[in-house]
Order: sequence, then structure tokens, then C-alpha cells
Amino acid sequence: MARTPGQADRRDPDWEGVRLHVVSGKGGTGKTTLAAALALALAAEGGRVLLIEVEGRQGIAELFGIAALPYEERRIASVSRRQLGLPAGEGGPGEVFALAIDTEQALLEYLEMFYKLGRAGKALQKVGFVDFATTVAPGVRDVLLTGKACEATRRKDPDGRRRYDAVVMDAPPTGRLTRFLNVNAEVAGLARIGPIHTQAQAVMRVLRSPETAVHLVTLLEEMPVQETVDGIAELREAKLPVGGVMVNMVRPPVLDAAAVAAVHGDHREEVALALGEAGLGGRSRKPETVRAAVEPLIDPLLEQAREHAERVELERAQRADLQQLRLPTYELPLLGEGVDLGGLYRLAGELKRQGAA
Ligand SMILES: Nc1ncnc2c1ncn2[C@@H]1O[C@H](COP(=O)(O)OP(=O)(O)O)[C@@H](O)[C@H]1O
Ligand SMILES: [Mg+2]
Repeated sequence: MARTPGQADRRDPDWEGVRLHVVSGKGGTGKTTLAAALALALAAEGGRVLLIEVEGRQGIAELFGIAALPYEERRIASVSRRQLGLPAGEGGPGEVFALAIDTEQALLEYLEMFYKLGRAGKALQKVGFVDFATTVAPGVRDVLLTGKACEATRRKDPDGRRRYDAVVMDAPPTGRLTRFLNVNAEVAGLARIGPIHTQAQAVMRVLRSPETAVHLVTLLEEMPVQETVDGIAELREAKLPVGGVMVNMVRPPVLDAAAVAAVHGDHREEVALALGEAGLGGRSRKPETVRAAVEPLIDPLLEQAREHAERVELERAQRADLQQLRLPTYELPLLGEGVDLGGLYRLAGELKRQGAA
């Protein structure tokens, strides 16, 4: 659960032991933004984190204000706890690397890998080319993308040390997620033996292991919350490891609970009085003059209060639905000026304070 500031440092992060973080959610809820923020949060204690983009939109480059990423792992940031607004700790700074996967190049790499493994031709013959083309081809792109993420997760340096302490994947939206993550199970079923089978099984082993966590990003609105609830059910059914829920773009409540409850009463007189006291009636001390001046303000103000109360009530219902999932949940604020680099670090700090990293 989201924790209050200060608590996070006294407890282990929620995803200790997880090395592959998959971030999904309804389109436009902030997947790319929060995948990047999570990568920064994970790197703040030191170590290396790889952030992978699979949709080919160069969203990471845009977010970090750098030139389009080539199909190559590039160091894009160094990050310390202090930069995330946290008290200095023992570890860090760490580094974030990024990779924007280019499907065509990944395909070449994949084929090359099988040529090196040898007998690829034979394996393809066994699979049956027609089956391969009709069943696997539409998902070849997904095979490549998930394969690449798992390869980076498992990769070791010559000294035996893991190349990356964690990998964060900015994944396709919820609607395509399970199929995307499960594509290798289909492939493994189709190619029953040979290198393709072995590779597909290895990928599924990583994806289904406790080393992987699939996090979903949502907003406190009906559609994305429903999509999150459905998405979690689907992941569970597919035996994929469910991670946490990241509630993005949360607006601070303007009115407290008492004020929200009060909007249904008749408060025209109180509002008129308060507006007068606040000087909105002009300089006159005559009650009639003040009243006449503030009169046109009363109804629009009450209307705004009612709208706000309605939103607070809707959000409360959405929060309750999310709580039913009983998953670690993080709330990230709506940044008024949009997400610049400073905002991105702020979100990362928030994720870390709440225990996501
Ligand atoms: N917490 C936030 N506050 C304000 N704007 C946000 C926040 N999170 C994301 N955004 C903005 O919302 C838009 C969509 O975010 P993005 O991460 O690209 O979503 P997705 O990858 O899910 O399509 C972007 O313009 C991004 O800057
Ligand atoms: Mg995106």
C-alpha cells in the first residue's frame, strides 16, 4: 500500500528480488512516464537499470530531452537519492540506460542468433513453414520484444556480474498485454523441439518467475480502473506475475470531507456573507450594496463546489474498486505544468517514498 513519507526507508521496497518490471495500463494514462520514473527510482540506490521502449515512438528520448535513441543501449541518466528529493543514503548514484527497440533490426538479430545456434532451418522445417507463418508471424514482433527484454534481464558481464540490476519495460497497453507476454508460450507449443522452442521456453520462464512483476498504470476514472481490474484478472489467469497499481495524475482535494458533504445543503446566505467578508463586495459597508455585488458570484461558486464534490465522490468509488484488488498501490500527483525532467524526477521520488523501489 502507499505509505506516508519516511516509512519507506524503514521497510524494504515492495519489489525486492524483482528484476524485470513490465509497465502497462490503458493508453494515455502515463505508462511511458511512469516506466521512466520507476527506472530512475530503481537506480537511485546505485546499480544499472535498463529502460526499454517497445512501441517505437521515441517517448523516452522525448521525456529525457535527448536525440532519438538508436537501436542500442545508451546511458541516459545518472541518479542519486538526493536528486529524487530523498535524504542521502549509502548507495548510489546509479545509472539509467535506455533502449528503443527497432523491430526490423531485432528480427535480424534474432535470425542471426538462430543461425549461430545452427539447425535453424531444420527446426523451421519441423515446425512446418505454414504453421510458422500463420501462427507465429503475426506475433513475431512480440517474440522479439519480449525476447530482448528477457535477454537483457539475464545478461551477465564477463566477470559474472549481472549487466543490469533491473530492467523496466514500457509495454503495450492493457488490451494487448497478455497476448504480448504470452506469445512465447504459443511459440513453445508450436515448435516442440529445437532452438526456437528452447528460446521461447526460456523467455516464458523469466516472465512467469518471481523475478518479473507486471504493474498497471491507471487514473481515478471509470474506464481505466475497469481496464485495470480486467487486466489483473487476465494476468492472473495467464499465470503472469501481477505487480502493483500506479494511480497517476491524482489531483489534490480542494475541499475537505466536511466541505464536500456540505455542498448538498442550502448555503447561499453563508457564501454571501463569506464573500462580503473577503472584500468581494467592494468597499461599501452597506449590506445591500455588498449583497448586490456578490450576488452574481454565489451560484457559479456553488456550482463549482458541487462539481468538485461530484468528482471527489467518483474518485472515492474508483479508489474503493482498486483497493479490492489488494495490491500495492502508489499514487502519483498530477503535475500542473506537464512532465518536464524536474517533474519526472519528482514522480520517481514519489515512487521511491511510497516503497515502489
Ligand atoms: N503525473 C502526471 N502529471 C501531468 N502530466 C502527466 C503525468 N503523467 C503523464 N503525464 C502526461 O500525460 C501524457 C501521456 O503520458 P504518457 O506517459 O506518454 O502515456 P502513455 O505512455 O500511457 O501513452 C504525456 O503528455 C505526459 O507528459
Ligand atoms: Mg507510451
